[in-house]
Amino acid sequence: MLRSAESHNARATGTDLAFQRCINPSCGATYEARSVRTSCDRCGDLLDVDYDWDRAGLPSRMNEFEAMWSRRHDPVRFSGVWRFHELLPFVPTDQVITVGEGQTLLQQTDAVGKYVGMDAGRLHLQYEGMNPSGSFKDNGMCAAFTHAHMMGAKRAACASTGNTSASLALYCSATQLMKAVIFIGSGKISYGKLSQALDYGALTIQIAGDFDDAMLRVKQITQELGIYLVNSVNPFRLEGQKTIMYRVLEALRWEVPDWIVVPGGNLGNSSAFGKAFMELKQHGLIDRVPRLAVINASGADTLHELVERRGVRWNSGNVDMDPIRAYNDHMDREALRADTIASAIEINRPVNLKKCLRALDFMDGVVRQVSDQEILDAKSRVGAGGFGCEPASAASVAGAKLLRREGVIAPSDRVVCILTGHELKDPTATVAYHTTDQEVFNSVLGSRGVTTANFANRAVPVPNELDDIIKAIRLYS
Ligand code: F0G
Repeated sequence: MLRSAESHNARATGTDLAFQRCINPSCGATYEARSVRTSCDRCGDLLDVDYDWDRAGLPSRMNEFEAMWSRRHDPVRFSGVWRFHELLPFVPTDQVITVGEGQTLLQQTDAVGKYVGMDAGRLHLQYEGMNPSGSFKDNGMCAAFTHAHMMGAKRAACASTGNTSASLALYCSATQLMKAVIFIGSGKISYGKLSQALDYGALTIQIAGDFDDAMLRVKQITQELGIYLVNSVNPFRLEGQKTIMYRVLEALRWEVPDWIVVPGGNLGNSSAFGKAFMELKQHGLIDRVPRLAVINASGADTLHELVERRGVRWNSGNVDMDPIRAYNDHMDREALRADTIASAIEINRPVNLKKCLRALDFMDGVVRQVSDQEILDAKSRVGAGGFGCEPASAASVAGAKLLRREGVIAPSDRVVCILTGHELKDPTATVAYHTTDQEVFNSVLGSRGVTTANFANRAVPVPNELDDIIKAIRLYS
């Protein structure tokens, strides 16, 4: 485990200035930061981590964080999460846990920008797949893991479509501070992610069901056995995920983009981004807020259905639950379950729905859905014009393209698409897209409505003869 060389400084930091607060403004119950909860005791709503900001020692300008990078010999300031500790000060710097997360990159790419329909120089891709476990989850995991350790936890658990579990398993193996217990739906996790959990030594419970079933079970089990839950219902997770936005701003020299486009699954990221911008605006550290686009896969489109079709809104915290209940009942009655090649976001009932509604409200957001065909085509363009990503991540690029087509995003807007997971997380989907083997294509993609690999880069079969090989290279290059 890496620990900070920074001493417990004079500034007030840590649990003395942090607390948990119910997100429902008409409840507003508060709880100690030093307590483990995933919902409000009084009304059952989600919780935020909040701070006594007056005592937090905030910088007066965002560019003051640049000085932290010069202290990167210290693991805390090397971390792309804890470098911004002043904006998530729920723990003193000498108690944070880091495995070097957050060394990510914002790539400006005209190749992908052209595909999306943007003017040159306007599309940026935020590569969260560069994190130690290969996805954005490490941003939140280091924060939740730190809180778990603070609380003396010896075991931590999560339900996962694969990336949360890979991340938890990695923090457990790399620090040796806790044992990981992970719940996954059977046949619902890509091999890249499953292999990580197994290799890192996590206790892997593969239940007969999907992510939503696993989520219900892990909530019960963690309560019953007193295991610390690290899913994004844990408000400390989202504190870490706020830093994705800080790094985007940092890469843009603290200029606020016009759009943040992010895939939506359990809606932790979109919720965290909303909170990040609410706080920065409140502190006067930014003068305007980007718009948010949350992109569902059409095979897992609960948020899109509720917001864009059934008109569900944050409504100052008074969310109308009737259409939500009606939709859930309809899904149950018809036995409708999420199904998409973007397995990371194959989720029926996003746990952070209300926080996401709040983020959409604050960031003047929109929700869209894109088909598996659009996702895989966009993914291939990211691969051909950048460093690649897993299918769920490409939903952001496909969503940006759709919003451009609709005229909601202008070609001159500055757009940041969040690429949430690494290319190598799901090689099955990639190979099936590019394969010449129709059987492989059909078995992986056929049932998902993917009819054509519009940008397939097929391997060229050649006899093992020098002349034939040279001929093939001349023909195809
Ligand atoms: N992209 C990837 C690669 C993911 O793994 C996830 C979520 C999302 C997008 C959606 O993010 O939940 O914040 O809306 N994966 C979770 C998991 C559910 O278990 O790994 P969200």
